[in-house]
Amino acid sequence: MSTTLLIYASQFGQTHKISERIRTQLEEKGETVEMVPLAEAPKSLEGYDKVLLACSIYHGKHRPELYQYIAEHQAELDARHNAFFSVNLVARKPHKSDPDTNPYVRQFLTKTPWQPKLLGVFGGVIDYQRYNWFDRNIIRFIMYLTKGPTDPNSQIEYTQWDRVDQFALEFAGLGR
Ligand SMILES: Cc1cc2nc3c(=O)[nH]c(=O)nc-3n(C[C@H](O)[C@H](O)[C@H](O)COP(=O)(O)O)c2cc1C
Repeated sequence: MSTTLLIYASQFGQTHKISERIRTQLEEKGETVEMVPLAEAPKSLEGYDKVLLACSIYHGKHRPELYQYIAEHQAELDARHNAFFSVNLVARKPHKSDPDTNPYVRQFLTKTPWQPKLLGVFGGVIDYQRYNWFDRNIIRFIMYLTKGPTDPNSQIEYTQWDRVDQFALEFAGLGR
């Protein structure tokens, strides 16, 4: 059975939560999964058959360290079964919830020469009370413009868990 490395970048925990769900699904299928935050990702991918990268969006961007890690490991990634998923609030909208239609996944594909074999995108969380004043009000303003929740007490999870499960199934199928 294969060994998967799951590298995630998560600030408020949602990408971590989604990664945990995928890890459980893969382990149920017999895979060995090692899950690490991006800051602790290994220097070499030796010993891993599959690699899954995950990152959330802040102020319109995936983390620069994500692109740096990919640039440093592109050949090793390409030599393995590999996948990427993004977590963001735009993906809460049905017409922007697929890798083909989500602007951040599209942006990702233009910013790196790495073309993952499998792509995913999932809605994130709004939890205004956890953000500082500046971030809370910027997001409230964006939500006002995009017809989302503006109540400063909103705490909403937009993650489409059935899609996460489907993604995990497809990832498990890579290389079988
Ligand atoms: C300060 C801040 C900025 C954000 N900027 C964006 C954004 O530009 N576009 C978007 O779709 N989602 C944006 N989000 C939503 C996050 O992607 C979402 O909350 C996600 O669940 C965060 O995942 P994490 O908890 O794994 O970091 C932002 C969230 C915060 C707190």
